[in-house]
Amino acid sequence: MVTRKDLAVLIDEETLQSRILELGKQIAADYEGKDLALIGILKGCFMFLADLSRAIERDCTVDFLGLSSYGAATTSSGVVKITSDLTRPIEGRDVLVVEDIIDTGLTMRYLLENLGTRRPNSVRVCTLLHKPANARCEVPIDYVGFTIEDHFVIGYGLDYAERLRNIPYIGYKP
Ligand code: IMP
Repeated sequence: MVTRKDLAVLIDEETLQSRILELGKQIAADYEGKDLALIGILKGCFMFLADLSRAIERDCTVDFLGLSSYGAATTSSGVVKITSDLTRPIEGRDVLVVEDIIDTGLTMRYLLENLGTRRPNSVRVCTLLHKPANARCEVPIDYVGFTIEDHFVIGYGLDYAERLRNIPYIGYKP
């Protein structure tokens, strides 16, 4: 059992927010004149998407896709399932998938295949964190907040067995 008292800070709130502002500016510029559809991957994206969407100062829609690749364990099972689907079609739209972390890449590979069948105009990927040490497949990542070492990270939306998502920084157990 890990509690908030056990955690060390990996990325503090100020560092998170200033990088998210940069990402938002870059995304707003890149999607000038496009029909931007932000798709957040639940549950881990909820804090990042709330902050990132406010940093993207242009018109867009926001929708969510519930995916799960982990049970209560902290290692990848490689099994991905849709737990709740988009509420609107994305055909012809410019989709930006917003993810909390890309670890093995298995979740994103599945997701990109799935979204591709819905005939969007374009699909790009924005992840707050990238942990390249565990990559098990190649996935294209267009926007990365932070590349991190191989820690199991917790907070700012990321859970430890469904707990500790509400911690406002990215922590880990040293
Ligand atoms: P992947 O399929 O291995 O790339 O894992 C993607 C999903 O696993 C993320 O959306 C997270 O929900 C979860 N995950 C991967 N690494 C971590 C971590 O360090 N902390 C919390 N969740 C993680």
